[in-house]
Amino acid sequence: MMKGALIGCGFFAQNQLHAWRNIDGVEIVALCDRDAGRLSDTAAAFGILRTDTDAEAMLAAGGFDFVDIATTVGSHRALVEAAARAGCHVICQKPFAPTLADARAMVAACNAAGKTLMVHENFRWQSPIQAALAAVRAGEIGVPFFGRFSFRSGHDVFAGQPYLAEDKRFIIADLGIHVLDIARAFLGDAERITATTRRINPRIRGEDVATMLLSHAGGATSVVDCSYATRRVPETFPQTLLEIDGTTGTLRLDVGYALHVKGVVRDVSPPVLPWAQVPWHTIHESVAIIQQHFVDCVRAGAEPQTSGRDNLATLALVEAAYLSAAEGRSVALADL
Ligand SMILES: NC(=O)c1ccc[n+]([C@@H]2O[C@H](COP(=O)([O-])OP(=O)(O)OC[C@H]3O[C@@H](n4cnc5c(N)ncnc54)[C@H](O)[C@@H]3O)[C@@H](O)[C@H]2O)c1
Repeated sequence: MMKGALIGCGFFAQNQLHAWRNIDGVEIVALCDRDAGRLSDTAAAFGILRTDTDAEAMLAAGGFDFVDIATTVGSHRALVEAAARAGCHVICQKPFAPTLADARAMVAACNAAGKTLMVHENFRWQSPIQAALAAVRAGEIGVPFFGRFSFRSGHDVFAGQPYLAEDKRFIIADLGIHVLDIARAFLGDAERITATTRRINPRIRGEDVATMLLSHAGGATSVVDCSYATRRVPETFPQTLLEIDGTTGTLRLDVGYALHVKGVVRDVSPPVLPWAQVPWHTIHESVAIIQQHFVDCVRAGAEPQTSGRDNLATLALVEAAYLSAAEGRSVALADL
């Protein structure tokens, strides 16, 4: 049995706990949150007996093989480093770190401890996205030369995650990060990015619209566009739509999980897991898939696809996008 401890019993951790319950050979044996009320409610809901409001104390006491860090970004570095010191494998929520320097330090800490470090970068693990990736990797559209990766919605994300309205960075750091990671999964790393941002919603501090143009190392170009100010009818939250042109054909992942490959349409709708809710079910399923991937990689001693090391390139795109938007110029990733 692989034993885990989860830190941060907030909005999203509930999904992670549901998913852990359904992974064979894994048990979450300890829970931590500095908010005692959230901690006891979550422990009761999931029948977890061991609880602590102090992460350092829980890690020092040990008794588990891995730590699932489900807190918001500001706490990640201290918690990842403490987990590495305690000799645990780590899965850590996105955004991985507030700065690239923090992210590099976390990767180094887990490397030095000889432990697996994976970022819970789950969007590329959504099964409709995986179906599209499989088609591209099988060469069904030849060599991709253009991609559009699009997430546009008017969904009120601030209701469940009020902290998102307060930070001076919003959509690129929170949501764009997922879509940039998807662009990397399809087209490889980017060498250059140009971004524009806007704030449409006057009640939030950060930007809620971002449009990014990426030049990928393999020669492909992509557009990553994100908006939480788009009044779509019908609403498409939380679907990421794709359009990829290759040398021998095109692929589109359209609204309603319709995957078009060279004119043939396939329904790639994700299942609604027993604990999931529509329309979140595609996100919920991806949580189960990414956590299974983490377990498989730890067992095999293999590096996860969305490892801490891999995520450095996604974080670099986030930093470069903000720099580009602030300075009104194209930014080379090599210059960061
Ligand atoms: N991957 C996804 O699809 C997805 C979706 C939503 C949120 N998230 C990410 O999940 C993370 C958590 O988001 P959330 O909305 O659940 O936040 P939240 O504020 O609802 O929950 C975070 C919890 O962590 C606790 N916490 C913070 N620092 C702590 C510490 N040092 N020790 C112990 N407990 C601590 C807080 O008390 C809180 O209960 C964020 O980084 C967010 O970006 C990811």
